[in-house]
Amino acid sequence: MSPSPLAAATHERVVIESFLGGGEHRTLADDVLDGLTRPFKELPPKHFYDEHGAQLFDQICELPEYYPTRCERAILTDRSAEIVEITGAAELVELGSGTAAKTRLLLAAMHEAGTLDRYVPIDVTESMVRSSAQTLVEAFDGLRVHGIVGDFERHLGHVPPPVDGRPRIVAFLGGTIGNFTPGSRRRFLRSLSALLGPDDFLLIGTDLVKDPAVLEAAYDDSAGVTAAFNRNVLTVLNRELDADFAVDAYEHVAFFDRDREWIEMRLRARRPQRVTVGQLGLRLTFAAGEELRTEISAKFTPERIRGDLAAAGMELCDSLTDDDGLFALNLARVRSTSS
Ligand code: AVJ
Repeated sequence: MSPSPLAAATHERVVIESFLGGGEHRTLADDVLDGLTRPFKELPPKHFYDEHGAQLFDQICELPEYYPTRCERAILTDRSAEIVEITGAAELVELGSGTAAKTRLLLAAMHEAGTLDRYVPIDVTESMVRSSAQTLVEAFDGLRVHGIVGDFERHLGHVPPPVDGRPRIVAFLGGTIGNFTPGSRRRFLRSLSALLGPDDFLLIGTDLVKDPAVLEAAYDDSAGVTAAFNRNVLTVLNRELDADFAVDAYEHVAFFDRDREWIEMRLRARRPQRVTVGQLGLRLTFAAGEELRTEISAKFTPERIRGDLAAAGMELCDSLTDDDGLFALNLARVRSTSS
């Protein structure tokens, strides 16, 4: 079947560049070697998201207990037009774009305002970048997509410069900024501020501090989806690094650390464990009850948001919340040097 003229036209509006070349496997190996030989074992949460993990995460987003996705979507539904009016953005750069489900709301508002020119998604999953690019150029006439297949912690330097210096929004949605510990969070925010020209905005989602019972339920749902998501990281290690974790021997643990105001997820060995990580020639033991930290998910107060942005050379312009005040979408810009 030959492509229709329309298909050819949309095809020409999509450019995808990949910066992944086996470096991911190296990163996983390094993180495992480093994290699992520490006195308190830990792994960075980025390794949750293989194909199955990404599916489990999508299921989490639909859970009654997991409010962040719904709240952020509600804010975008209600306020995208306002965000577009404030920013005048012609371009949307999105870190960790995934299926770009929420992004559509912003793109639609930009289209409506007549400013929409380009979408720049960055994601490690090539298939997601490709399929969302195709869907979006078909949905929005004239839209161009420049997709970056890469890790937003390593490949921000490959984000193309804005076209004609037109204003853009750099979006980091979902509350993923909460995965950083406080120090590296500020460092990462600084790298985001480096993407912003004087007319550009950062749009960043942050989950807010609230009743610990509500927070803990969101990370320990009654259907056990989050538990499966948490354990899935062991399956990733078994497959990718030839490890032999007995996945069911680890219990899902999630609690709100009231002093640090973050959720921690851990995997707790129910019985003593011996584990071999074949590709690394690594032998590990877990004592009965020993825990492996798999994620922190920091929760924010307005003061924390302001403080972190200020430390990264930015100022908060607006903080939009859902009706229940559970989640915030924050609009920030580079602090002007004058004044
Ligand atoms: C994708 C990092 C925003 O921290 O809420 C959901 C990941 N972990 N349930 C979050 C997650 C457990 C999620 N982020």
